[in-house]
Amino acid sequence: MVDRRSEASQNGSAHFKRVVEAMGRAPNRSPRALRPEAPEVDRVAIVTGAGGGLGEGVSAALSRQGMSIVAVDIDGARAQAAADRLVAEGGTALALVADARDEREVADAVEKAVDRFQRVDVLVNLAGLMRNAVLTKVTDEDFLAVFHSQALGSLHFMKATVPHLKRLGYGRIVNISSIATRGTVAGVSYGASKGAIEAMTRSAALELAQHGITVNCVAPGLVSAGMFLTTPEAFREQLVSRIPMGRMATPDDVAAAVRFLASSEAGYITGQTLTVCGGLTLGF
Ligand SMILES: NC(=O)c1ccc[n+]([C@@H]2O[C@H](COP(=O)([O-])OP(=O)(O)OC[C@H]3O[C@@H](n4cnc5c(N)ncnc54)[C@H](O)[C@@H]3O)[C@@H](O)[C@H]2O)c1
Repeated sequence: MVDRRSEASQNGSAHFKRVVEAMGRAPNRSPRALRPEAPEVDRVAIVTGAGGGLGEGVSAALSRQGMSIVAVDIDGARAQAAADRLVAEGGTALALVADARDEREVADAVEKAVDRFQRVDVLVNLAGLMRNAVLTKVTDEDFLAVFHSQALGSLHFMKATVPHLKRLGYGRIVNISSIATRGTVAGVSYGASKGAIEAMTRSAALELAQHGITVNCVAPGLVSAGMFLTTPEAFREQLVSRIPMGRMATPDDVAAAVRFLASSEAGYITGQTLTVCGGLTLGF
């Protein structure tokens, strides 16, 4: 009879042995491989959830750096509108429809992006949704809807994009989490999903550093666009009154952090979370 436990442990040992060997081999440690050849203007960035409030600001910021933008969204009209806006401002953009929850659709979208631009340098994972409920009212359906669109969706896009980044020996992945990882009322599903994204980011960063690929998170606070504007106004006003900077973040505030982590200058920063909250998460 096969001893499953011992088989699994052997598989695990073999896996870690390969990881350690790969780390020692350092195939991409030559200065040429670690220093990206492409200037910022020749880079290509995939932005998921590009049709949303933050997607618009982030895509515009990267486009202004000269990057070509692959604007991906589950909503085709939103993706197209996002790409059209970038092109109208003089940028280069391709609109693609993909459901981040569906690994095959994601793989197809990334292949289409590579067919069109021959490379991908940057991935920004913004796609997702929010469902709020107090703990005793959280349904499996809502929990999984949030988790699948945010955490699993980010994983799918990383899995599909990483082989292309490895080919370049360069890459920047920026995942969007949230200050909700610290706990928010009625935020169990959303906070759990964002916490998973931060944990995945750190593991991916460890695995991919040897390939010149950084993986980081930006954790926005309360933003004057997108999903935060769907919360009740009185609730918003109460929260905003607690922000030391005295205002919500603009999409540009968040985009500035994403742009930095997506740049070649940020090449020694990996596995980190950059919080953009106007001081809301500080003590007193
Ligand atoms: N707005 C805020 O205050 C705030 C704060 C912290 C973090 N965030 C995060 O920033 C990201 C963007 O949020 P936003 O405020 O722009 O929200 P938004 O609702 O305006 O945009 C989200 C976009 O993602 C798309 N999307 C949803 N599910 C998808 C799926 N399965 N596949 C592909 N696309 C999908 C939607 O169509 C939409 O265009 C989210 O991850 C959100 O959790 C937002």
